[in-house]
Amino acid sequence: MEKRELVDLAAEARKMSYSPYSGFCVGAALETVSGEVFMGCNIENAAYGPSNCAERTAFFKAISEGARDFKSIAIVGAPKDEEITSFCPPCGVCRQVMSEFCDKDKFTVILYDGKEIRTYTLGELLPLAFELD
Ligand code: THU
Repeated sequence: MEKRELVDLAAEARKMSYSPYSGFCVGAALETVSGEVFMGCNIENAAYGPSNCAERTAFFKAISEGARDFKSIAIVGAPKDEEITSFCPPCGVCRQVMSEFCDKDKFTVILYDGKEIRTYTLGELLPLAFELD
């Protein structure tokens, strides 16, 4: 899939964001090696702690449905009812979740600021990831 198509799916997913506390809406579209796409949005909670980022929503949907081989994830974020004007890089927790399932040199994270698409490998975003041998 073209990067731009995956970004567009992330923007679609963002419309489902449940974020009444921060007002910041995030969408993610996770593509498997076989071309399947799992979409996710951030889901907040009044107790704050149980909130889930869009990226982890997409990963947990995918993992729970048996997907294991991932190619890339597109992420977009912006305040509710606003256009996307800046990049929304994944938080540290989401990077760690990605590192559990993805190859650090092959898996790519696709970001979009409304103008430009930037692509990073997971290894660039999370060098020296924690892992158990
Ligand atoms: N958020 C994500 O969903 N993904 C990110 O990469 C960064 C932050 C969410 C968490 C929270 O619901 C809101 O954005 C503000 O932090």
